[in-house]
Amino acid sequence: MAVRHSASLISPAVLLIVLLLFDASGGGRASRLDPWDSSIRMPTEKDEPEDPEKELGTRWAVLVAGSSSYANYRHQADVCHAYQLLKKGGLKEENIVVFMYDDIAAHPLNPRPGIIINHPQGDDVYAGVPKDYTGEHVTAENLYAVLLGDKKAVKGGSGKVVDSKPNDRIFLYYSDHGGPGVLGMPNMPFLYAMDFIDVLKKKHASGTYKEMVLYIEACESGSVFEGIMPKDLNIYVTTASNAQESSWGTYCPGMTPPPPPEYLTCLGDLYSVAWMEDSETHNLKKETIEQQYQSVKNRTSNFNISNAGSHVMEYGNGSIRHEKLYLYQGFDPATVNFPPYNSLRSRMEVVNQRDAELIFLWQMYKNSENGSKRKEEILKQIKETTRHRAHLDGSMELIGSFLYGPHKGSSILNSVREPGMPLVDDWRCLKSTVRLFETYCGSLTQYGMKLMRAFANICNSGVSQTLVEEACMVACNGHEPSQLHPVNRGYSA
Ligand SMILES: *[C@@H]1O[C@H](CO)[C@@H](O)[C@H](O)[C@H]1NC(C)=O
Ligand SMILES: *[C@@H]1O[C@H](CO)[C@@H](O)[C@H](O)[C@H]1NC(C)=O
Ligand SMILES: *[C@@H]1O[C@H](CO)[C@@H](O)[C@H](O)[C@H]1NC(C)=O
Ligand SMILES: *[C@@H]1O[C@H](CO)[C@@H](O)[C@H](O)[C@H]1NC(C)=O
Repeated sequence: MAVRHSASLISPAVLLIVLLLFDASGGGRASRLDPWDSSIRMPTEKDEPEDPEKELGTRWAVLVAGSSSYANYRHQADVCHAYQLLKKGGLKEENIVVFMYDDIAAHPLNPRPGIIINHPQGDDVYAGVPKDYTGEHVTAENLYAVLLGDKKAVKGGSGKVVDSKPNDRIFLYYSDHGGPGVLGMPNMPFLYAMDFIDVLKKKHASGTYKEMVLYIEACESGSVFEGIMPKDLNIYVTTASNAQESSWGTYCPGMTPPPPPEYLTCLGDLYSVAWMEDSETHNLKKETIEQQYQSVKNRTSNFNISNAGSHVMEYGNGSIRHEKLYLYQGFDPATVNFPPYNSLRSRMEVVNQRDAELIFLWQMYKNSENGSKRKEEILKQIKETTRHRAHLDGSMELIGSFLYGPHKGSSILNSVREPGMPLVDDWRCLKSTVRLFETYCGSLTQYGMKLMRAFANICNSGVSQTLVEEACMVACNGHEPSQLHPVNRGYSA
């Protein structure tokens, strides 16, 4: 598309007509300019009222990377990228709250010290990102306090909160691992769906925002909203996956498109880079949330060519998607001549989020010197990870057999409720079941998040907690409490 931005392209006659039209009627400005549409643009032309800020209120954003460690490079890269995008869009630093563990840029394995990229040819996205909540302060509790604007409840960090007013809009973007009913956090406990929805209800009751848009990337992220997200909170949500499938990492070593060869880790996640790369290539004063949803949905399904993709889902108040994106993500003047909308990019090779860690370790193994001590250590780490995975899966299966008999066990534990039904009826039961399991069988870890559905189904089946405790105790009898025990890092519930 040709880029026109010079007033000299406009003849004086046209200018006069334009000026007359500006005076003509009291109708919407956009319709007055319709005859020219995008073919002639005045340098000062605005699609929106003179002082949009006044009418729009303030735009707020909350950005959350829920993981830590270099193997999870991509989540913090996603979030840093989102910060740069919003900043370019004109959101102010004081209105953007960033949660990230911040152990990537200075990590010894980072081939470009002090730099984080989110695309194989991407620029640094780390510089300038505010360190509001880093390290031990990246917690679900702090996220809730920040959203509620509750400065007193915040522990550590910059103390920045979403101090929003009734006319303000809030954009929340989250990227990490998840599981049925939970989103990961680098510090325990995980974020539990019902707690999060309760926070959103509280925020709504406080009357301190106009509308909110949430973009959530994690495995099974649909399950955080399915059957429990109200439609009357003025909140619109899209998630990277439905309630029962993985989400996907991308720009991974050995895949197409690959990261630069010196990177052993994935640079981004499929849904996340899909929305950000869409925002960066369109005029957000023209593109609607729905248009972005549609193209992100296509790209995240990976165009349905293989099984490597997920279903982007919507929850909450669907009317909000008719709004333009700039109301949440701002508007970068450099994009004024970008199309409002166009489709498709090629499909990308991706990795199941749950396997990304092992693939990272494998890359490390392959690339370390033969016979070195380091190679041995990595091998040990791979062994411990796979052993713990097998232990978690095996214990769960055994617990299912104990509770429901060997024939029905696994079908009850793995059963999926119909769309529209919440994962679990009693969320407190879910948490206490997780704690029982972790006490006897060790920490769930990122991988074990997938077992959340089994815990939910145990609760839904109505068996007593006493029986559950006995089953966990017996199934995991003799399990050596290793590093991977909640005494070290806390319970995930
Ligand atoms: C959804 O949002 C629209 C637009 O803001 C609003 O008019 C409508 O009342 C909302 N619906 C519900 C159920 O709250
Ligand atoms: C999504 O994919 C469908 C089917 O491949 C295509 O018809 C449609 O135009 C695509 N939409 C967008 C927004 O990319
Ligand atoms: C792929 O296509 C099938 C058949 O139309 C559909 O059921 C499925 O939901 C699609 N998958 C994704 C990830 O969009
Ligand atoms: C290690 O040895 C294998 C075969 O023995 C070789 O293919 C590989 O390139 C070596 N790796 C390194 C990093 O030296």
